[in-house]
Amino acid sequence: KKKVILDVDTGTDDAVAILCAAASEAFDLIGVTVTCGNLPLANTVENTLRVLALSGGDIPVYAGCSLPMVRTLMPGRAHDVRLQTVSTIVDGEQISIHEPSFPLPPSPYAVRKAHACSFLVDTLRNAGEKITIIGVAPLTNIAVALRMDPSIASNIEEIVIMGGSVSSGNRTPTAEANFYDDPEAAQIVLKSGCPVRIFTLEATERVPCDHEDADGFRSLGTPAGTFVGNLIDRFIHRCTQLNICDNGQVTIHDAITVCGVIDPTIVTSLEAAACDVNLGGWADGALIADRRSFASRDSSVRIVYDIDKERCVNIMKACLSEL
Ligand code: BDR
Ligand code: CA
Repeated sequence: KKKVILDVDTGTDDAVAILCAAASEAFDLIGVTVTCGNLPLANTVENTLRVLALSGGDIPVYAGCSLPMVRTLMPGRAHDVRLQTVSTIVDGEQISIHEPSFPLPPSPYAVRKAHACSFLVDTLRNAGEKITIIGVAPLTNIAVALRMDPSIASNIEEIVIMGGSVSSGNRTPTAEANFYDDPEAAQIVLKSGCPVRIFTLEATERVPCDHEDADGFRSLGTPAGTFVGNLIDRFIHRCTQLNICDNGQVTIHDAITVCGVIDPTIVTSLEAAACDVNLGGWADGALIADRRSFASRDSSVRIVYDIDKERCVNIMKACLSEL
């Protein structure tokens, strides 16, 4: 089994990612670290605890950073409406498309005392075998841990990220939300020298979900299947209200990324490339990959561009039918 730490900002698609990671036979999920992003930290922690309780086990949850590494030092940035999509700006106010709290009972388990970054550093320092980190949130916790002790990189098997896009963004015309919310953290992780695999928007948007997919999850007849089916229906409704729904379809990016770690063969297009993150201006937070035909492919970063939807959804179903 792969030893895995999952970093989340729960969040609709994070919730499905957590359930898949907790259920998968392929993983030994040793901890879930939480940061801010989709919602403030208090909400993302509470949502994480509730979702994990649905999975039945006492997987430890650690609260991490409540702010990005640098960006709150630039207060005007989040309110630059010209650069925002309608998904986060309504009547000039920044809102979240994610539910502030899920309709699930409170967890019987409490969040652990240690800070998420301390947990990452301690666990990786003392690891008997290499650990895979899956980051489906702004990369603040992972970057801070790498700054606290850069030597932990040698005990990381791979950092698998949901984030970035090499063509169109979702938060801004060029930036994906997780990269936009903490571009410096994304840059630190990409340049860490650790093997990195990035599930970009190009990849995750190949696996859209509609009401029929939601029915498919509900028909599994398990509490997790029903929760996810209803969650997707509400997410489609919310995005439709905000006029950002693509043809009645939404994407549960984070769950797709976890499925790509459970079974890497669902990835049908993967390419190594030298990468950088834009740190300012209109392309702030954008992922840049050198895809020129003659560019060196000798890079620790690999980018996922395409995924087999049917096989991906089947993995989710196999996981959710266990819970
Ligand atoms: C990513 O940003 C968040 O809104 C989602 O949870 C996902 O991790 C998609 O851009
Ligand atoms: Ca997320």
